[in-house]
Amino acid sequence: MGKIIGVVSGSGGVGRTTLAINLAFALNKQSSAFLLDANQTNPHVHVHLSKTLPRASLQQVLNGECSLHYALQHVASGLAYLPSQHGESDYRRLHQFKDQFSLLAQHIIVDAPHGSVKDAKEVLAFADDFVLVVAPELAALGDAKQLLRRMHRSVFAGVVVNEVRKHRQISDADVERVLGIPVMASIPYDKRFTETVMTKQPFVHQFPRAPITQKIDELAHQLRTH
Ligand SMILES: Nc1ncnc2c1ncn2[C@@H]1O[C@H](COP(=O)(O)OP(=O)(O)O)[C@@H](O)[C@H]1O
Ligand SMILES: [Mg+2]
Repeated sequence: MGKIIGVVSGSGGVGRTTLAINLAFALNKQSSAFLLDANQTNPHVHVHLSKTLPRASLQQVLNGECSLHYALQHVASGLAYLPSQHGESDYRRLHQFKDQFSLLAQHIIVDAPHGSVKDAKEVLAFADDFVLVVAPELAALGDAKQLLRRMHRSVFAGVVVNEVRKHRQISDADVERVLGIPVMASIPYDKRFTETVMTKQPFVHQFPRAPITQKIDELAHQLRTH
């Protein structure tokens, strides 16, 4: 049975979807991975990966309107994912599909809604392990601390600090001290991420030799052995 790893954050816009896609891609190269977009408030995985609308979504699967296999999408590299669409489906039903998802791959990466969205509770209860994404800014760190009030630190594999710029507000050591969770990776700001949203290719696929790709590969490796 595959391990379900939630990519979570306290606030939106810190890079959860971007990390979930690239991490799933890297894990799929190393072993096998499946990507689940569980964010029906901001369902962006499909926007990052495809120029067309999805033929079906998690919401239809949860509502019993189609099978999981009908709704699956594949990127050229072979990574499979289940897109979300804007909706109001009952996320308590996610649990009924846990076994089906777990059979799809060794790692199921979940792009979760951010902490203050109402569905977050169900998604947090659904995953086995978590990666917490933060921006190296005081506001993002404050939001992450809010989220941690609802979760036990032991469920976190670690923190990914994203969009790190030369002149940053907060160091990795500060992030670890404030959140009490180890930093697994620190990913620099790189404007090529915006380009990959247009080309519909994961960064790690489009730029296989970039230092960021190496960092994400290392992160994937750490998660496999966590
Ligand atoms: N390390 C990075 N460097 C530059 N831009 C990034 C980086 N990570 C994410 N982005 C960009 O930031 C925006 C928000 O990222 P996204 O993954 O959609 O955030 P979230 O899912 O947390 O709301 C996107 O346009 C994405 O391309
Ligand atoms: Mg997102």
